Amino acid sequence: MQGLVIVSLILSLGCFEPASAQNGSTSGDWWKDTFIYQIYPRSFKDSNGDGVGDLNGITSKLDHLADLGVSAVWLSPIYASPMVDFGYDISNFTAVDPTFGTLADFTRLVTRAKSLKLKVILDFVPNHSSDKHPWFLKSVQKVKPYDEYYIWRDAKMVNGTRQPPNNWLSEFQGSAWEWNNQRKQYYYHEFTVGQPDLNYRSSALQEEMKNVFRFWLNLGVDGFRVDAINFLVEDSRFLDEPKIPNTGFADTDPRTLRHIYTSDQNETYQVVQSWRQLIDSYNGTRKLLLTEAYTTPAYTAKYFQYGSNIPFNFIFLRNITSPSKPLDYKRAIDRFINLVPPGSIPNWVTGNHDNSRVASRFGPHRADQITMIAAILPGVAIIYNGDELGMVDRPMSWKETIDPAGCNAGPSRYNLTSRDPARTPFQWDATKNAGFSSGNKTWLPINSNYKFLNLATEKTLANSSYSITKKLVALKQNPIVKTGTTMVTVIYAYFLGIARRLPNQNPVVLVVNLYNHTMHADVATFMNIPKYMTVYIANAAAKLTAGTRIDTSFLQLQGNASVYQAVNTEDSRTIGWKSHWIVDMNLFRTEILCG
Ligand code: GLC
Repeated sequence: MQGLVIVSLILSLGCFEPASAQNGSTSGDWWKDTFIYQIYPRSFKDSNGDGVGDLNGITSKLDHLADLGVSAVWLSPIYASPMVDFGYDISNFTAVDPTFGTLADFTRLVTRAKSLKLKVILDFVPNHSSDKHPWFLKSVQKVKPYDEYYIWRDAKMVNGTRQPPNNWLSEFQGSAWEWNNQRKQYYYHEFTVGQPDLNYRSSALQEEMKNVFRFWLNLGVDGFRVDAINFLVEDSRFLDEPKIPNTGFADTDPRTLRHIYTSDQNETYQVVQSWRQLIDSYNGTRKLLLTEAYTTPAYTAKYFQYGSNIPFNFIFLRNITSPSKPLDYKRAIDRFINLVPPGSIPNWVTGNHDNSRVASRFGPHRADQITMIAAILPGVAIIYNGDELGMVDRPMSWKETIDPAGCNAGPSRYNLTSRDPARTPFQWDATKNAGFSSGNKTWLPINSNYKFLNLATEKTLANSSYSITKKLVALKQNPIVKTGTTMVTVIYAYFLGIARRLPNQNPVVLVVNLYNHTMHADVATFMNIPKYMTVYIANAAAKLTAGTRIDTSFLQLQGNASVYQAVNTEDSRTIGWKSHWIVDMNLFRTEILCG
């Protein structure tokens, strides 16, 4: 009985340290304890004035990323594409789309990145090709072996009328089946009609896709972000998926079905494992595999076992939302850390091109808080271009909308599904087109707030999102943050507290106020941290400057504030320790404190 009490006391204090995140062999894993930076190429930097970003534009701005201190850039698709889904519909997996440049431009990008010690990760889109891909054209004509490269099914005849083979729905609304009049069959498309799904039961197709890996590995890439992996394989019985009652969504909406036959199928994991083996056969720098799957924790965990280094953790995109309270954060964080198997590391995605921007999802106050949490927790943080500035969504009219996910939803609902608002061009400075393009028109409108929200301005401000992010990226390299134990706790229901510790050293501590009003607490006693600490970084709302000494036994944090802290050497309990604090304060900003 006494033993149980002790255990529950330890857990309630949040001191329990899952061994999994800390143990195991991860040597050579260059991505461990770093930030990875996603570039959406169409929106990063336009070098030729056509209003669309390109490879030479990215190369010209790699200094920004080296300066920020990230370990790698992940490029969303740069391949030949009709651009129905803005590059995720690929008509040649081994060619660069002319919009982005040439293979020679890509090689120059890789060379420049390597000279800046940046790794290059490519998007790998295995679930589908474009319907303009030569494989698909030959599949339509039943040319062997291409006839089996896609998922073809006969029509279901109901009262003499042709119907799709079953009720499966596309992620982008409506039936996932499209009739092909030439082949006289339906083909399956999880995404747009222009993105027919590839058939992984064809061994020839599997080999083709391995050749795609080989092609880019030979050009020196350091890893791949694997797109929409959970949709890779479909159940071969082609049964109707069960309906979820009363969702409130239209019948055409995929959220009305339980995707038990089109997502998370066992064979998917075998395919991932075969890719792991392939890329591991390449010498040199260890290759990184990141996998994208919006799925359950159990299915996410399986990707670790089958060779993904980073099965994306989307808790900040799905489980934690603007009204979430400290306990919600703790629960979601603990759940992810606990599913990471021994020898693997956690990851924390703060935003991407498919979701509303972090500063819009949470309101501007909380965006820096999320980056701070991602920075102090063990493992990798993955950030989306522009989020380091606190860029926000730019609302679009129906007329401006070009994302198929928005267009397919129609004029009354497009704004619930369109991803255009989070994809607007990067805001470099206050000049024409935010310094993104010299052209007269950009592919998506520039957010008019660029005049004050831009990189050049933020570089001059010590408490800007950019300056804070830069310090957070550096903090990942702190030995305590790299290897210390992790405590995630809720401080008297008021604050979220995270402490990282190594024996005989000051902890690194983050305290986050997730409420809109000022609160105070004896954080020193609750988290067992030293009474006095000094500020390392402060956000604007914190109204604290670096070096300010704080009494943690009466820590007062303004609404939406947080503080990074390490223990001050003056504290009797912590003589000889070094100290850091993170305090996240009101209005977008964050504090890092150290001794
Ligand atoms: C992934 C991509 C998304 C794309 C979809 C289809 O979810 O992130 O942008 O539309 O796959 O390729």
